[in-house]
Amino acid sequence: MKKITDSIEEVVKSAFKNAGYEESYGTVQISNRPDLCQYQCNGAMSAAKAYHKAPFMIADDVVALLKDDSMFESVESVKPGFINITLAPAYISEYVKGMAEDDNLGFEKTSNPKKIVIDYGGPNVAKPLHVGHLRAAIIGESIKRILKYTGNSVIGDVHLGDWGLQIGLIITELEVRKPELPYFDEAYEGDYPTEAPFTMEELEQIYPYASGFSKQNPEYLAKAGQATADLQNGRRGYRALWQHIIDVSVADIKKNYEKLNVEFDLWKKESDAQEYIPDMVKMMKEKGYAYESDGALVVDVKQPEDKKEIPPCIILKSNGATNYETTDLATIIERIKLFNAEEIIYVVDKRQELHFDQVFRCARKTGLVNDDTDLVFIGFGTMNGKDGKPFKTRDGGVLRLETLIKEINDAVYARIMENREMEEEEARSIAATVGLSALKYGDLSNQASKDYVFDVDRFVSFEGNTGPYVLYSIVRIKSVLNKFVNEGGSLAKTNIIEPANESETNVMLQLLRYNEVIMQAATDKAPHKICQYIYELSDAFNSFYHGNKILSEENEERKNSWIALVILVKRVLEQCIDLLGFDAPEKM
Ligand code: ARG
Repeated sequence: MKKITDSIEEVVKSAFKNAGYEESYGTVQISNRPDLCQYQCNGAMSAAKAYHKAPFMIADDVVALLKDDSMFESVESVKPGFINITLAPAYISEYVKGMAEDDNLGFEKTSNPKKIVIDYGGPNVAKPLHVGHLRAAIIGESIKRILKYTGNSVIGDVHLGDWGLQIGLIITELEVRKPELPYFDEAYEGDYPTEAPFTMEELEQIYPYASGFSKQNPEYLAKAGQATADLQNGRRGYRALWQHIIDVSVADIKKNYEKLNVEFDLWKKESDAQEYIPDMVKMMKEKGYAYESDGALVVDVKQPEDKKEIPPCIILKSNGATNYETTDLATIIERIKLFNAEEIIYVVDKRQELHFDQVFRCARKTGLVNDDTDLVFIGFGTMNGKDGKPFKTRDGGVLRLETLIKEINDAVYARIMENREMEEEEARSIAATVGLSALKYGDLSNQASKDYVFDVDRFVSFEGNTGPYVLYSIVRIKSVLNKFVNEGGSLAKTNIIEPANESETNVMLQLLRYNEVIMQAATDKAPHKICQYIYELSDAFNSFYHGNKILSEENEERKNSWIALVILVKRVLEQCIDLLGFDAPEKM
């Protein structure tokens, strides 16, 4: 179905034209004074200059042509020159009915679908998932779902960090702890054990220890650097250890993402791009882009209009090793080669902005991408504790994701059990579903680039702008529908008739926005727009629910229409929360 403002705009534009004005002045938006009207057109204000006329005279001309259109209940010219529009109730309910009858809620997919790769995981093997990776997962998963829903072909890639110093550190520390293992013996030619020589718990302990120790011990650090280079150059024993590290960590990482309802289409790793590096380096040298500077191989990426200093992109370090830039550049080559990516989106901490700026510039300059390939960086802000500082555990350590999830779920559980009896198991399972909504909505309802305060008490509240409030609205509808069916009602009747009162009209007006909100969220890659929308839709629904006795309504036609309307509200809310990456329980 056509977006509602587009439909209104079409009519208003043709009125501008027929009244002798440029039709482009006829743009329509949702009213910012809902007390006065539902939609508005401010085009007469801007047309006034071009036509040397008072704006209200232009508005009057246009309104005269719109007055009798059956689409509107009223169209008014208001001084100094606004056009205030209120739709006819029958027009509103017809549109809503059209949505209810369509499997896709009347949503029109993009006419210009793209092949998109979205890189939004970025966990590093051998390190536990912590809150730093939480935002990437939550925001990226939602953007991926939104872009898929709007008709694009989207591949979500976890892009594991498996090629950096952390692996060298673990190898070095393992050698200290278990020197007898065959992996360290360069003369060893036999097969290596299939079983990893450590558990995930050990790995999680080894890495922070080695990382801390290397900071005080330059020799140890140099050794780890060398082990990293040897690994990258293919030393057999190190490759075998590295494979063990990946296997053990990936199993753990997958469990964590599952709990978050986050699913990747691809489990690629930084190391997978290595095979593209030699040719890439050769090309950059041959074409004269790359040159030596202090022993390293670099590409200049600064531009005359830069306001701040943009350092050159380092392609090879002075010891010949590759680095984060090299891997990201080679990964671009891979994504274009394997998937014909037309757009690559990175959902990463905004503190990495400079890195991506360098990589994107270098990729363009050296022709790894062509002009119409979009490279998009979505940098997110930090999740802070209530003290406004980056989130830490009570003892100052890095907070593990599991701990955080447990904290939220426990709070929801307590809230559920407050004034009622429920089986422990059932309450726990509901708490996990509701807890995830609290966690994700708490994050997604903020603009991604902003820092936000992680506030368990607020996030788990069943009232206000929260995930649980939206779920509560869905559950309320489910319960109305259950009662309706138990009283012998049939859900198949979907005849939505004209709204009976203001609260019902408001629900319908919110439904009318659906198409537009989703498209806007996709264009801006902004899940928070969907959050804001479902909050407003839930509010409108709850006012309607409190103002009307749906189940005891005596007019059968009206009652059936209300049932059809709340079914539609539920479908829209459920579709939206699916795009945000969580779902609703049966009761709560
Ligand atoms: N592993 C990186 C980190 O933990 C994030 C990777 C983001 N994606 C990328 N293509 N660089 O910081």
